[in-house]
Amino acid sequence: MKIVLCGYMGCGKSTVGQLLSEKLNVDFLEIDTEIEKKENSSITDIFQENGEIYFRKIENIVLNEVLKTSKNEVISLGGGTPCYANNLHLLKSNEHVKLFYLKMTPQNLTARLINEKQKRPLINHLQTEEKLEEYIRKHLFERQFYYLQSDFMIDANAKSVEELTEEIINLL
Ligand code: S3P
Repeated sequence: MKIVLCGYMGCGKSTVGQLLSEKLNVDFLEIDTEIEKKENSSITDIFQENGEIYFRKIENIVLNEVLKTSKNEVISLGGGTPCYANNLHLLKSNEHVKLFYLKMTPQNLTARLINEKQKRPLINHLQTEEKLEEYIRKHLFERQFYYLQSDFMIDANAKSVEELTEEIINLL
C-alpha cells in the first residue's frame, strides 16, 4: 500500500509522513525531494530559472514514476501536486494508494508558514502576516476542491505529529 499525504504548504505532510514511515517500517518519499534529485536543483531555483509550468511538468513526471511501483511506502506530495495536470486522477485510480488530506485552517497555516517562506517560491514575496493569510485563504479555497477528493480527511489543527500519525494508522 502507498499512504499518500496531501494538503496545503505547512500542514505537516513531511513531519507526519516521516514518523508514519518509521512506525510502519516502510520508506518515506517526498515528491519535492524527488523533483530536486531529478533536476539536480532546488525547488526555488527550478521556479526561478524555469518557471512554475516547467515545475508542474516535472512534478507530474515524478508522480507518474513513483506510482508505477507497487512498493509499500509513505509519500508526501507537494502542496500543489493534486491540483495540476492529471495528478489527482493518477492518485485516485491507483488501487495501491490511500490518499489522506491534512486539513488546517488558514490562520494556523499562516502562523506556521510566516517563518518558513524562504524555501517556498509561491509565498516568499508576501511580506506581512496579513498578506500571507489573505493569499492562503484564497489559494486554499481554490485547492480544497482537489484536496477534498482524498479518501480520508484528517483535522490537523492543534494536534501533535504523534497524534496525527496515530490517527492515520487507525484508519488503515
Ligand atoms: C507548492 C508546495 C511546495 C512545493 C512548491 C509548490 C504548492 O511543497 O511543491 O513550492 O504549489 O503548494 P510543500 O507543500 O511541501 O511546501
